[in-house]
Amino acid sequence: MIRIATIGTSAITYSFVDALAEVSTIELAGVYSRSRETARKAAAAFGAEQTWTDLDAMLASTDVDAVYVASPNGVHHEQALRAIRAGKHVLVEKPAVPTADQFSVLLDEAKDAGVVIFEGMRNAYDPGTAALRALLPKLGQIRRVSLAYSQRSARYDLVLTGRSVNIFDPKLAGGALYDIGVYCVSMLVDLFGVPQAVTASNVTVGSGVDGAGAVLASYPGMVADLSYSKITASDRPSEIQGELATVTFDRVAAPRELVVTYLDGKRDTERLDLSPANMRFEIERFGQLIEGDDPAADQLRTLHTLETIDAIRASSI
Ligand SMILES: NC(=O)c1ccc[n+]([C@@H]2O[C@H](COP(=O)([O-])OP(=O)(O)OC[C@H]3O[C@@H](n4cnc5c(N)ncnc54)[C@H](OP(=O)(O)O)[C@@H]3O)[C@@H](O)[C@H]2O)c1
Repeated sequence: MIRIATIGTSAITYSFVDALAEVSTIELAGVYSRSRETARKAAAAFGAEQTWTDLDAMLASTDVDAVYVASPNGVHHEQALRAIRAGKHVLVEKPAVPTADQFSVLLDEAKDAGVVIFEGMRNAYDPGTAALRALLPKLGQIRRVSLAYSQRSARYDLVLTGRSVNIFDPKLAGGALYDIGVYCVSMLVDLFGVPQAVTASNVTVGSGVDGAGAVLASYPGMVADLSYSKITASDRPSEIQGELATVTFDRVAAPRELVVTYLDGKRDTERLDLSPANMRFEIERFGQLIEGDDPAADQLRTLHTLETIDAIRASSI
């Protein structure tokens, strides 16, 4: 059994521990928090016996084989590197790190240390994405892709009052592209590879990060647009248009309803009877990688996603 300790005690770690209960290969070793009180509260909620407030002590523990890093994005690199150097496998929340160069460092260090570095990108492991991929051959030559994810963050209200909030803090790699646009970029790269070129535009909020953005991504014979926002809300679906049919789907992070519309108007609908809270699948994959599966393809998707994010950030106006 692989024993995993958690870093970060926000809602996502609670979701992670819930999902962990459904995974047979990994169990919770304990909880790290910067605060003793928060660590105790989380450990009580999780039924965990061990807590740490000293990260090095947690990383030195022989009771810990792996760590789940769910701290703000700007802290991931430093914490993941420390964990790798301590010989721990690392499941790091999306985006793994802010830049491709930083991820390359983690890849090299993980290889030297003989451990797995793995990004918890929900849609890459979700059965809804597998269902979407299986439908693509029905579409004929794919020409247009449009991926959208907009969800207004309650924390934006704090930004509007001038308060500093991690997820909108440029020093912690906050902002819409890193937080929510990354799902669109990762799915694009996963399904179609790295774009030949990107151009991007965004809306900057008071804290200095992007609150919303749009990207045009060019491929030979195909154009994709990505739309994402943390300051507005939208239920608009995403779609992939081929010369023979178009598939429309509801959630980029977890597709649950997929509708194929053919040129004659005929429709086929596929529904997945699964909760959109689907961290189980990425955790199961992490377990398989620790047990010996080759992580190269998983890691390359993360690297290519971050290279595309680098290009988007460089071209953003
Ligand atoms: N997969 C998903 O569906 C999903 C959903 C939401 C978020 N996420 C990802 O999860 C990560 C955390 O996001 P979040 O919005 O939950 O972040 P957050 O609330 O700002 O911080 C998460 C935790 O990190 C610790 N922390 C806070 N500020 C820190 C700092 N300056 N330095 C070190 N540790 C700090 C805190 O734990 P302690 O006080 O206990 O140390 C906090 O509970 C991000 O990478 C995000 O992209 C993923």
